Amino acid sequence: MSITRRDWIRQSLLASATMLVAGPHVAQGCASERPDEILGKDDFILLNWNENPYGPSEVAKQAVGDAMKYANRYPDEKINELKEKLAKKNGLKPANFLLTAGSTEVLSLLGQHVGLQRGEVLTPFPTFPTALRFGERAGATIKKVELDANDRIDLDQTLGAISDKTTMVFICNPNNPTGTELETEDLKAFCRKVPENVLICVDEAYVEYSNAGMKGSMVDLVNELPNLVICRTFSKAYGLAGLRMGYAISNVRNIQALRDRHLGAEISTGWPPLVAASASLDDPEFINTCVAKNAEGKQIVYDAYDRWGVKYNPSSTNFVYARDDRFEKDLVAKMRAKGILITKWPTMTDHFRVSIGKPEHMRMYVKTVEEFLV
Ligand SMILES: Cc1ncc(COP(=O)(O)O)c(C=O)c1O
Repeated sequence: MSITRRDWIRQSLLASATMLVAGPHVAQGCASERPDEILGKDDFILLNWNENPYGPSEVAKQAVGDAMKYANRYPDEKINELKEKLAKKNGLKPANFLLTAGSTEVLSLLGQHVGLQRGEVLTPFPTFPTALRFGERAGATIKKVELDANDRIDLDQTLGAISDKTTMVFICNPNNPTGTELETEDLKAFCRKVPENVLICVDEAYVEYSNAGMKGSMVDLVNELPNLVICRTFSKAYGLAGLRMGYAISNVRNIQALRDRHLGAEISTGWPPLVAASASLDDPEFINTCVAKNAEGKQIVYDAYDRWGVKYNPSSTNFVYARDDRFEKDLVAKMRAKGILITKWPTMTDHFRVSIGKPEHMRMYVKTVEEFLV
């Protein structure tokens, strides 16, 4: 495992200074997408950040309310409790988990780890950029592997691109922004072939929505592969994006190394996110309902795109990635002027992405975006 202590503190201060100037949402390239003044106003439909329109679950809300009376106490017991629960659910030990304020913290730690040793992140691209951006700012080189003709991650090409310069391979599965999913066994075989001195980060932010479901997780490999780090989040299917709760899963040594470098010393989370996450884990019915409702919302988009001849990827997530050539230019700005926020990162040259809201939001989306067909 190549997470080392070398110069971490001195260099991470430099990297943190960069982030103080830039801010995390700027790091994702989306600072201008959603200014404060529109949040909470019913006349905007927020389909740009892949949030769960149904969350949090009722049991999570109840747990947060109940937790307020303990807000004067540090949350260590709740950290341990959530780790115990995650460990049981995933067939691992509590020491295999690091709890963070959203998985962004895990991605930034890993990116910085590579950057501070002037290493290289190898990644299929386009993909979720946080680890790459944090890495680059701290000194990493980013090596990108093109997706195949169907916007799928090409594991053979990725494996072939590993060199003695590669420090970490980043795989987002299902992938954001393309929405595509790898076959579980293919990804497992890939992970087993990556040399042990190269870290593998598998970002499973959308695994709950995938066709494989939790069986699509690489968690079974954690005890087998010393170089595997999985990151997961409660921000998506669990609907807790605003509470900030994510985690890393890896072998005990890696978790210890990540914890040593975590600026929040693993207490960047608090009672409300911890108890909300814990309660949500006991409410699988909520996840099932959200996943089913998400499929209903996706179908509304698919049906419209099929009618109009818009090329899109069947999505294993809560968003749909489509080509923009059937629409007028500046679609994002035009939709925004109509009160509907969608996404186009600069790297999505000829595509755009819409998050799946409630069915009524998606019907409104379809009705509105139809106005901009060419
Ligand atoms: C693939 C992926 N990973 C990680 C994140 C970060 O999520 P959070 O920090 O809310 O856990 C996101 C957010 O959109 C994402 O799409």
